[in-house]
Amino acid sequence: MEERSVCLDGPSGAGKSTLARLAAEKFGFIYVDTGALYRSIGLHVWRNGIDSKDESRVAELLPDIHLELQYDDEGVQRVLLNGKDVTDDIRLPPISIYASDVSAMPAVRAFLLDMQRDMAARYDTIMDGRDIGTVVLPNAGLKVFLTASPNVRAGRRYAELVRKGVKTTPEEVLRDINYRDSNDSSRANAPLRAADDAVHLDTSRLDLNHSFEKLCELIRERFGL
Ligand code: DC
Repeated sequence: MEERSVCLDGPSGAGKSTLARLAAEKFGFIYVDTGALYRSIGLHVWRNGIDSKDESRVAELLPDIHLELQYDDEGVQRVLLNGKDVTDDIRLPPISIYASDVSAMPAVRAFLLDMQRDMAARYDTIMDGRDIGTVVLPNAGLKVFLTASPNVRAGRRYAELVRKGVKTTPEEVLRDINYRDSNDSSRANAPLRAADDAVHLDTSRLDLNHSFEKLCELIRERFGL
């Protein structure tokens, strides 16, 4: 059965979350930021002082983790980790690396799979991530693979972190992006990859308005909205 969901997959910093949030608001879909789920697990692992590559210790921690997604009045997603709102904490740069490392582990991916599918079964969703079109929602109505060059993505991510008052440098952000690109694409389990039936959208030379227009066009065409 084809689901009335939009998958927005692509590498870090391609603009997925901004575009997904805007599109969800415009078309009345629920925006599910799946990276926030991996980040929350990364945060829990980090807080427990566990090495982010130690697969057996990370797997042991999973039964202690309870994640919940909530939406405020503006439709902004909040993530609760064991009852506490961690939406802001999971954005800190060290957590990006932890999230990328733990996301390569089959036990972590299996732990989050049902939660993501359940959201799409209950709501019309725009879900962003790395494997949504290939693994999580293979029957989604629309799959978009969003990309931009590493330099453009690093520039955007740096500006976003500066806006949020996070202390970092452009070099550090580019290093993170390159690390995560290679980590996320080379893992054996659900790697970052475009689904065969995904529409490719490269935003390297498009500003936010043009990227958004293109995405809206695809959604309108696909769902007759
Ligand atoms: O989208 P993000 O940067 O917040 O994601 C954080 C990390 O989580 C990213 O490096 C890869 C991983 N991730 C994943 O493996 N699968 C997803 N569906 C979403 C994120």
